[in-house]
Amino acid sequence: MLYSNSYLQWTHQPVARKGRLSCICLLLLICCNPLYSAAQQKLNASNLKEIVHHMTLDEKVHTVVGMGIYLPPSVMEQLRRALHDTSMLHNFHLPPMDTNALKIPEKVPGAAGRTYANARFGIPSLTLSDGPAGVRINPIRNNDSSHTYYATAFPVATLLASSWDTGCVYAVGKAMGDEVKNYGIDVLLGPGMNIQRNPLCGRNFEYYSEDPLITGMMAAAMVSGIQSNGVGTSIKHFACNNQETNRNSVNVIVSERALREIYLRGFEIAVKQAQPWTVMSSYNKINGTYTSERHDLLTTVLRDEWGFKGLVMTDWFGGHDAVAQMQAGNDLLMPGTPLQMQAIEQAVREGKLDTNVLNHNVENVLRLVLHSPTFHHEPYSDHPDLQAHARVARWAATQGMVLLKNQENTLPISHNIHRIALFGTSAYHLIPGGTGSGTVHAPYTISLDKGLKDAGFQTDASLQTKYQQYIQTHNPAPRNPMSALFGAPPIPEMPVSTDEITRAAAENDMAILSIGRESGEGADRHLKDDYELSDTEQALISDICRAFHAMHKPVVVVLNIGGVIETASWSDKPDAILLAWQPGEEGGHAIADVLTGKENPSGRLAVTFPLHYTDEPSASNFPGTPPDNPQQVVYQEGIYVGYRYFNSFHIPVAYPFGYGLSYTTFRYDHLQLTSHPEQGRWELTVTVTNTGKRPGREVVQLYVHAPAAHLDKPEMELKKFAKTRLLAPGQSQTLHFVLTPADLASFDPARSAWVADAGTYRVYLGKNATEYVASTTFELPKEVVTERVHQVLQPQQPIQELHPPASNE
Ligand code: BGC
Repeated sequence: MLYSNSYLQWTHQPVARKGRLSCICLLLLICCNPLYSAAQQKLNASNLKEIVHHMTLDEKVHTVVGMGIYLPPSVMEQLRRALHDTSMLHNFHLPPMDTNALKIPEKVPGAAGRTYANARFGIPSLTLSDGPAGVRINPIRNNDSSHTYYATAFPVATLLASSWDTGCVYAVGKAMGDEVKNYGIDVLLGPGMNIQRNPLCGRNFEYYSEDPLITGMMAAAMVSGIQSNGVGTSIKHFACNNQETNRNSVNVIVSERALREIYLRGFEIAVKQAQPWTVMSSYNKINGTYTSERHDLLTTVLRDEWGFKGLVMTDWFGGHDAVAQMQAGNDLLMPGTPLQMQAIEQAVREGKLDTNVLNHNVENVLRLVLHSPTFHHEPYSDHPDLQAHARVARWAATQGMVLLKNQENTLPISHNIHRIALFGTSAYHLIPGGTGSGTVHAPYTISLDKGLKDAGFQTDASLQTKYQQYIQTHNPAPRNPMSALFGAPPIPEMPVSTDEITRAAAENDMAILSIGRESGEGADRHLKDDYELSDTEQALISDICRAFHAMHKPVVVVLNIGGVIETASWSDKPDAILLAWQPGEEGGHAIADVLTGKENPSGRLAVTFPLHYTDEPSASNFPGTPPDNPQQVVYQEGIYVGYRYFNSFHIPVAYPFGYGLSYTTFRYDHLQLTSHPEQGRWELTVTVTNTGKRPGREVVQLYVHAPAAHLDKPEMELKKFAKTRLLAPGQSQTLHFVLTPADLASFDPARSAWVADAGTYRVYLGKNATEYVASTTFELPKEVVTERVHQVLQPQQPIQELHPPASNE
């Protein structure tokens, strides 16, 4: 048997030992049979090509296709139910698996996938595991009652991006990567880094931002942090997996400019800055072809233009033509099926797939193997330091929470407040993260109720009892950590009578209401009762504010959500609003840290909160047409995504990109710009001083308004950002930024080039995308073509894209 029975034990080639004659025969066999002599060699860094040369076709095929996946019947049932509720049912079916491979015990039960071992060449099986907010593996293993395998649930990507702090994201990545390594995993399937094109995308919590610079910088920091442990990452989903509805088949029709400037740009930054070991192609099509089958995307752009050196894998069961995937440069098909192996083998035999192409794919897989901890027999403890990582999760969560409103300094909670009336099911049942493959099986979740109690407050006992009883009755079967892929539907909010609210207002010093949202893989969110608040939630806000304000007691709303919701209809009512996102397992503590002022909120929005959903530029093109079963979605807004749209088209918003309040104030002084046009550099320095009474961190956002020659340009674009260290009152920090023509360039599809137009550039230092504290200008005397690229990824027909009013140009 060629393939090992486990990831570590190799099976052996039979060796004849029957006396002198057999020995001579054996010697002859060794000398004359290239296959056999190759078997003496095990894979190492210098013989990779030689090994590939000696591999049989069958061995190669077992290298580029994964071992399959076993989904227990209970999961299949959940999957079917989940798919039934969405239009994914039209496209999804589980193909037959290699049943022999599935009998081989998993090294890490619950990991998403694994590759085949090859004993002959000393190639071990690699283990790949989700996902962006922490390691997703089974916390409990069959026949192993003595040990648990929980992983830390870190704050979700939306929160991490709101920290605007690459150092913080690196720290989370470092801790997460330590768990990857200590659980014996080779590659973590993350970070997710699709652009938040529309607020209803069910997986937005796994993604960073509407802005490609934030997306790329955050992903690069995460990749570097994880990979600093000697394990790999897989940036995903490359590209344009911006919705869950029909994600396995929908055709995204998008211009090359929008692709290059918005949807690919973050990936480009992450690849160039952090060299992730792997990239995961997405499920969808772009301009008519599955991404996993696009040579221009996976080879021309990713490898030839950006210099990516790693491996590309499919998303699970992604695409449909294994041969086209190999040809495109999609080296590894995951989780892998026998049908894919047959297709590749047959295509090689029939001359339809060039052996050199397959060899190249095999080499990329083997390079990954050579990097992997499993190949190097790295020891792993199965005992990551979960306590230390919980501290990282708690601190990181505080760094990305965004204070949206703080009328009359309601927050931090004042010292004369002791008793809190806590409302909202998510106050007692915190939502740490989203569902689907981005779930993490954490050892615990700290509720806001517990967080506040641990911070020394008394929470209203009667409300607590009512909420806990309600949650028990409404929370369908507790999530089975062994199997659940798709989360239970969120608990509908509990109505509270006005009598009860009036009583609570009389007996407590303040009210906190938590509004919770949960979504995830497999379905997009709905407008009603999800993006928009439900009637019960609206009534709660109104009734609580009325009763508490009548007694001059403050009301704070905490948003325990993974993506944007509607706020304009109710935000004038409470005194303060804290956007806590989905803050991971330590969420309750972290929210309490911010509410009490132990931590000063320093998060800023990395996504715009519009006034109305219909203000979103993608609202009329999401999730595509026909609406009940979309086959295609046209990105008609082109590059005008998020603040690029709202600013350029002068659409007022609820909370702009970059927005967030602090418990202190900052002053910006001494903005200085030094031009070195001959060297293609513009240097800016600015000094930020904490002018308030509490220590705090400020996010400095540098936006540029570029002159428009042949192309229209957004009103302004974020080009640089930095976060100060914790500044004590009166303390200052000088920040330094360097702009180059490449930072200023837009993509001109007619010339297949990145071009910085000649003219006047205006630089703004912003509190957010609509509020500037300082500005200056510089001239670019002559146009600079910063890069020429290939013409790729063309739409099949022209797209009628949005263009801003002429005054912007
Ligand atoms: C998801 C990926 C995930 C993979 C493995 C897919 O359904 O889209 O993000 O990494 O499953 O679990």
